[in-house]
Amino acid sequence: MIKPPLANVNGILHIDGVSAVKLAETYGTPLYVIGESKIRENYRRLAEAFKRNYGKTRILYSAKANTNLSILKILKTEGAWVDVVSTGEIYLALEAGFQPSQILYTGVSVSEEELSYAFKAGVTINIDSESQLRKLLRIGVPHTLSVRINTEIGAGHHEYTVTASKTSKFGVDEKTALEIYRTARLAGVEKFGIHMHIGSGILNPDPYIKAAERLLQVAKNIHEVAGVNFEFVDVGGGIGVPYRPDEEEFDIEGFADKLTVLFKEKIQSCGLGEPELWLEPGRYLVAESTILLTRVNMVKQTPYRKFVGVDAGFNVLIRPTMYGSYHHVVVANRLNAEPAEKCDIVGPICESGDFLCRERLLPEVAEGDLIAVLTAGAYGYSMSSQYNSRPRPAEVLVKNGLHEVIRERETLQDLLRGQKTASWLNV
Ligand SMILES: Cc1ncc(COP(=O)(O)O)c(C=O)c1O
Repeated sequence: MIKPPLANVNGILHIDGVSAVKLAETYGTPLYVIGESKIRENYRRLAEAFKRNYGKTRILYSAKANTNLSILKILKTEGAWVDVVSTGEIYLALEAGFQPSQILYTGVSVSEEELSYAFKAGVTINIDSESQLRKLLRIGVPHTLSVRINTEIGAGHHEYTVTASKTSKFGVDEKTALEIYRTARLAGVEKFGIHMHIGSGILNPDPYIKAAERLLQVAKNIHEVAGVNFEFVDVGGGIGVPYRPDEEEFDIEGFADKLTVLFKEKIQSCGLGEPELWLEPGRYLVAESTILLTRVNMVKQTPYRKFVGVDAGFNVLIRPTMYGSYHHVVVANRLNAEPAEKCDIVGPICESGDFLCRERLLPEVAEGDLIAVLTAGAYGYSMSSQYNSRPRPAEVLVKNGLHEVIRERETLQDLLRGQKTASWLNV
C-alpha cells in the first residue's frame, strides 16, 4: 500500500516528499495530510480514459467526499465541474470559484428554503421527486433541469451506500420522470439532463454498466414519448478504490472503454443526438491522496486483547465504525519493523464502537509512535464531528516537499461557537 504519493524513506513514511514524522511534529495530531499530486493524477487518468473515446465527457467532482476549498480549487484548475448536495456545498463551490453553470445540485428531502437558495444561485438542479419539482416551480422556472432516475440497479461497498434499488429513497421511476419532464417543459424549462447515481465504493463495473444501459433506455423512452432532448446524461459517481492490500484496482480504462462504447451505440440507435456524458466521482479522485496521522496515547494489554489507543476516533474518521470499512494502517515512524501481534487500534471516544481497526497484525507499538491511516481522503474529514466535544483536526496540503495548513485545527473556543446561555440561566 506504500506507493506514490507515499514512500518509505529509511523506515519513515513520506507523502509527496515530506516526512510524516515532521508533519506530525509541526502541526500536531490527529492530522489529515493531502497529497496534491495524487488528486491531479487521478483526475487526469479518469478524464483521459473517457475523453479519448468520447470528447464530450465532463467530470464533476462530488464535493461531499471532501469540501476543502483547496481541493475544490485543485480540481477546478484541472477542468472539473462540481456535484453538490446541500446549500453549504453550493456556497463552498461558489467560494472556490466555480461558475453557477458548472455546479449540479442533487438534493433529496429538500426544503423550499434550500431549493430557493439553489435557484437564486443559478446552479443546475437535479430533481429527485415530483414534490421537489412543484416546490421549485413555485419559486421560479429554471433554464435547465435534470431528473434523477432510480435505475433499480445499485451497487456499493456497504448497504448504506447503495443508492438505487426498488426500496431506495433516491430518484424516481420512469413513469414519474416522464411526468416531471412534461410538467417542466410546459412550465417553460428549455434544456434537460438525465441522471443516475447507483452507489458508492463500486469495484465491479458490471452493475454500473447495466444501470447506465437502463438509464439510456429511459432517456430514449422519454425522448420518444415526450420529445425531450438531453444536453447531458449523467451516470453519477461511485468508482471505488482499493482499501486493502489484496484488493484489485477498478479498471478505469476498461470501464471507460465499455461505457463509452455503450453510450455511443445507444445515443445513436436511440436518436439522442450528441449529449455530454457526465460523471460525478468523489472517492476516486481524493481517497488515495490522503493519510490520517494519529499519535499513540496508550498501549493496554488485557487478558483477552491488546489495545493501541490513539488520538483519532470515530469523531475524526467514522468509516470503520459506520460501515465496518477497512483502512490500512502503518506505524509511520517504524515502517520497516516486522509484524509482531494482533491489536485493536481504538480512539478516545467513550463508545465501544470507537475503533480504527480490530485484530490487525502490527509491529510492536509503543506510546508516542505515529500511526498513519491510509486512503483517508474521501468521507474522512467531511464526515468528522465534534462528538465528545473534541475539536476537529487540521488538514495540511503537501506538494513536492511543500506543506501548508489548508484547514486549521479547531480550538476549544470553536466548541462555544454559536452557543448562548438562555437568559433565565444568566444569574
Ligand atoms: C449524487 C451523488 N453523486 C456522486 C456521489 C459520489 O460518490 P463516490 O464518492 O462514490 O464517487 C455521491 C455519493 O454519495 C452522490 O450521492
